[in-house]
Amino acid sequence: MRIIWFGHACFLLEGSRRILIDPFITGNPLAPKKAEEIRTDIVLVTHGHGDHLGDTVEIAKKNNALVICIHELSRILVKKDVEVLGMNIGGSVYPMGVKITMVPALHSADFEDEKGEILSSGSPVGFVVEMDGIRVYHAGDTGLFSDMKLIGELYEPDIMLVPIGNLYTMGIKEAVKAVEFVKPKIAIPMHYNTFPLIEKDPEEFKREAENLCKVIILKPGESYEYEP
Ligand code: NI
Ligand code: MN
Repeated sequence: MRIIWFGHACFLLEGSRRILIDPFITGNPLAPKKAEEIRTDIVLVTHGHGDHLGDTVEIAKKNNALVICIHELSRILVKKDVEVLGMNIGGSVYPMGVKITMVPALHSADFEDEKGEILSSGSPVGFVVEMDGIRVYHAGDTGLFSDMKLIGELYEPDIMLVPIGNLYTMGIKEAVKAVEFVKPKIAIPMHYNTFPLIEKDPEEFKREAENLCKVIILKPGESYEYEP
């Protein structure tokens, strides 16, 4: 599996299918590509905040991709003529031969429409993706919670995508504890350095977490090839 980071919380997982997570491309100062250049089969959205929902509607339409998100957000997206599968925390779906499990995240969520009206978009979530026998846990925007141990125990992620930027999510100290709870083989930090408010040194996270698992630091646009 190839894991490409487009900056912030946006990753493209490339294996037998292409799975794009949280495509915040337009307006992301670090995004290495334009939204219209991205090809995908599935889009996963962790919550309705603009820096996660991002270009979901445009990308899904252009690629005839299936969007998967929590029920309340799916009700908003279905009105935008997107093919969307709404689900809820704790469940799994099996589109196109991959397994997607929705797991909790400790955060907030809303959705702002074109008129500036704020709508409820349901709970924020994380996802565990299983494709080609490899499991990736995208934690979403989240604070630390001890049930991450259950996510580790039940789904045994090979790779964990973990926010370290602080302020809106965990900072480095909490992210290291999250890695200790989940026990992935590889951790990749995300949700930092996009804006001055979330400036963090990923090398500091690496130093602190590297006795727990391998830490891979990507630059936006870079990819990591995982072979089990
Ligand atoms: Ni958020
Ligand atoms: Mn965010």
